[in-house]
Amino acid sequence: MRTRKLEPHESPPYDLLLLADPSRQLIETYLADGECYIVEEKGEIIGVFVVVELHNETMEIKNIAVREHMQGQGIGKKLVFDAIRIAKENGYATVEIGTGNSSIGQLALYQKCGFRITGVIQDFFMDLYDEIIMEDGIQCMDMIRLEMNI
Ligand code: ACO
Ligand code: ACO
Repeated sequence: MRTRKLEPHESPPYDLLLLADPSRQLIETYLADGECYIVEEKGEIIGVFVVVELHNETMEIKNIAVREHMQGQGIGKKLVFDAIRIAKENGYATVEIGTGNSSIGQLALYQKCGFRITGVIQDFFMDLYDEIIMEDGIQCMDMIRLEMNI
């Protein structure tokens, strides 16, 4: 399993990116601003994450996803730690990540990796997305912000 930066001539794996974020328009915006990393196994892309500089000292993980049949095997955790390593190598002091109020498993993962909740952006998903997003019977309305000093 190898993590590497997506080359400029390669197409981003939208099928994976759309698992984490249903808005192709938003994905395109942060792909243009940031760096896309992929994880490959046996020539197949099995995971992706996108990192963007928020400001001088802070990098945000904007999108992170693992191919559905490979989830729950520790790959997501590896991707989070890869992103943290990349942030350290590039001299950032803090990593941020945001997810929906309904993303119980994702909130568990990020906290198990060491992130702390710092705030809530009320109505974030209702304001920015046209469709209603539901997960585990919970409507995704607010963004939970998490942060880690590295
Ligand atoms: N309660 C407690 N712990 C939980 C729960 C829960 N409900 N759900 C998951 N976890 C824990 C697991 O126990 C595991 O921790 P452990 O290793 O200590 O046991 C961890 O969370 C999951 O770890 P992985 O197996 O490494 O995760 P996975 O490979 O499935 O990747 C990911 C996680 C990326 C969220 C994947 O499920 C995915 O692609 N989901 C769809 C896309 C998505 O939602 N992406 C994130 C959106 S937010 C954003 O992109 C910034
Ligand atoms: N992801 C998604 N949904 C979940 C999860 C999860 N990880 N865990 C629970 N749920 C959902 C269940 O699916 C269910 O919803 P559903 O009916 O739509 O399927 C709901 O949460 C649980 O409902 P109940 O079965 O009615 O809950 P229960 O009788 O277990 O009572 C309580 C919940 C009071 C929290 C109980 O588990 C308890 O006493 N826990 C120990 C004490 C405690 O933690 N109390 C709360 C502390 S905070 C406070 O006191 C203010």
